[in-house]
Amino acid sequence: TWTMEAFIERSVVEIRERVGPSDRVVCGLSGGVDSAVAAALLAKALGPRVVCVFVDNGLLRAGERNAVAEAFGAHSNAELRVVDATEPFLRALDGVSDPQEKRIRIGHTFVDVFREEAKSIPGARFLAQGTLYPDVIESGGDRDGPAATIKHHHNVGGLPAELGFELIEPLRDLFKDEVRRLGLELGLPDSLVWRHPFPGPGLAVRCLGTINAERLEVLRQADSIFLDELRKAGLERQVAQAFAVLLPVQSVGVMGDGRTYENAIALRSVDTDDFMTADWSRLPHDLLARASTRIINSVKGINRVVYDVTSKPPGTIEWE
Ligand code: XMP
Repeated sequence: TWTMEAFIERSVVEIRERVGPSDRVVCGLSGGVDSAVAAALLAKALGPRVVCVFVDNGLLRAGERNAVAEAFGAHSNAELRVVDATEPFLRALDGVSDPQEKRIRIGHTFVDVFREEAKSIPGARFLAQGTLYPDVIESGGDRDGPAATIKHHHNVGGLPAELGFELIEPLRDLFKDEVRRLGLELGLPDSLVWRHPFPGPGLAVRCLGTINAERLEVLRQADSIFLDELRKAGLERQVAQAFAVLLPVQSVGVMGDGRTYENAIALRSVDTDDFMTADWSRLPHDLLARASTRIINSVKGINRVVYDVTSKPPGTIEWE
């Protein structure tokens, strides 16, 4: 019978058979569940021969970098390298407002930064990927065969083959719910295991129009207030994905005696199982009211908050 303990034991043996005593495994941490669980499993098998690389692209949500650092710093025996790459990413995005162009530039910058970091890891022979069983089917492999390709789709986590690593994919037999259980079993915190999916291009595709550090900070603050209110209402785990979007429009408002002319924030929350179709979450009005008041009172540059009531299709979950 299949148990999580047996799976872990078997994986540890397999990993140790494949990775030689002088080899090291590089794990790119994205902040998401899959890469974190893959890294935790590898760390259990190989300890400090696992090097986790987390690229801070300056497009992360509030607290994200710390959450990863906490889970893989003191509590893990893997090595953690946090690469502060805000500057190259913001430089690459300077003046760009087209969504696909943002993704392309972020993808290229990510590969450059990752390649540079990987160069400084002696003995790095393997690259870990958090590929799951559904990804394996999608790319034409099967449960027993080798994964033919690195996940390409729209994820910036997909690194090109010319980096020269051998792939190691310890989650390729698992479904998402099994990955979460495995993560908990390996001691990852609830907050990491249950987090909503977050797009690779991060806040860049939620900061509509052009991007700079100030606009990202406005978005980050509004987003963190919205999530805080969801959490307090006990709804964070009930919705599939929730976030704020900074709109590139200004509208008129009144604040005290004065007239304001500032940006608007859109709040988005969706219910879905597969992210292919989705419905907008029927959030309590009181929760929306609290989030709106807090955002307008405390986030400088925002004087209006709207709630997105578009389902998918015809809308997409993200705005870009
Ligand atoms: P859409 O907006 O297409 O999103 O309805 C469906 C799911 O995919 C995520 N998403 C992305 N994830 N890189 C990613 O890693 C991307 O470029 C990207 N675009 C959308 C989105 O957050 C949602 O979960």
